[in-house]
Amino acid sequence: MKSSTVLKSVAAVALLGASLTAFAYDADWKRGRVYYRSVCTSCHTANPIGAINPSTKAKADWAGYLLNDKHAKGKETVTKYVSKEYRASIKATNKAAEKFADTPDKELMEDIKAFLLKGAKDGDSPASCS
Ligand code: HEC
Repeated sequence: MKSSTVLKSVAAVALLGASLTAFAYDADWKRGRVYYRSVCTSCHTANPIGAINPSTKAKADWAGYLLNDKHAKGKETVTKYVSKEYRASIKATNKAAEKFADTPDKELMEDIKAFLLKGAKDGDSPASCS
């Protein structure tokens, strides 16, 4: 390997480390569960798709799904439905959206991820939607 390539890899690893430590947050899977059941699931059941139980996917599938951030066959992002903006738009009729109105997007996303991984079919406690 040329030394410039080595330097670039070292820089990339350092950057990755920095971005990981910049967001040290201890996810709250219970808050993720409330949000998933009250916001995500209530829309899925109102749509023909029906409830999507966390236990229908494996941990790796959920992690990949959230990382990809493509919701409803790529029509929009998952992030959109976790955003403060979306919560504000439904909080008049949705208690969870109202309760977590000021939670930072990134924290809420980590909470949902923690719940989905815990509830995955190979997770610590496979979960349904309700
Ligand atoms: C506004 C309604 C609505 C909300 C809110 C919503 N979804 Fe969905 N979701 C849908 C619909 C509709 C589909 C089915 C799309 C299709 O099959 O064409 C879907 C599909 C999915 C799927 C199946 C795979 C895919 O993307 O097609 C997953 C997983 C999913 N949603 C996760 C979530 C999560 C996690 C949240 C909350 C952060 C969420 N959804 C919030 C309407 C919603």
